Amino acid sequence: MKVKSAEFVKSSSKNEECPKDVHPEYAFIGRSNVGKSSLINMLTDRKSLAKTSGTPGKTQLINHFVIDNNWHIVDLPGFGYAKVSKGERKGFQKLITDFLLFRKSLITVFLLVDSRHPPQKIDLEFMRWLGENAIPFSIVFTKIDKLTSNEWNKNLTKYKKKLLLEWEALPPIFSTSSTGKVGQPELLAYIYKLNETIPRSW
Ligand code: GTP
Ligand code: MG
Repeated sequence: MKVKSAEFVKSSSKNEECPKDVHPEYAFIGRSNVGKSSLINMLTDRKSLAKTSGTPGKTQLINHFVIDNNWHIVDLPGFGYAKVSKGERKGFQKLITDFLLFRKSLITVFLLVDSRHPPQKIDLEFMRWLGENAIPFSIVFTKIDKLTSNEWNKNLTKYKKKLLLEWEALPPIFSTSSTGKVGQPELLAYIYKLNETIPRSW
């Protein structure tokens, strides 16, 4: 399973500017610097489809990419980056929540979480918000190449335990590394399966 074509469509600063919602969409979101843009490049086998950077806060707009002329990837701004001003943070927040609440073609959200850290309040709160608003999501752990498999198994077990304190069932979980190309087939298979099964009648 490989992506044949992947093109940047546009950057939007609000819902009204987004491309026509003709394709099923998959949004990638997470704390700044978690590796969203890198993951999008890894998924699509492109080096620089989405701009990556060592400087957090690079992605500040809603970025749409069209894949195989059939589905959309959406790179959303990183949330929770402390160094943007409070006003700016509110702006991001509204941009993100409006998109997630009102975009009809949105199929699911991939919440990216750094595999090295214990569960962070901001991620747990965001999952709660998604649940309250009935927005389906998966968790995509990133940068697992930075841990030994033993360390990663321990972290993952702890993370699941924490989730099960407030969730009846776990969401789909993916373990990935963009540098190591880990998790690409699993994520693509999941997306393709959803693409096949959803009626395009939003
Ligand atoms: P913003 O758009 O700024 O919110 O960041 P982002 O979430 O898009 O992160 P980005 O993909 O730009 O990656 C941030 C940094 O992490 C870059 O220096 C990447 O090279 C690095 N990085 C991303 N994914 C991985 C990974 O799987 N493994 C390793 N080792 N580094 C990674
Ligand atoms: Mg980015």
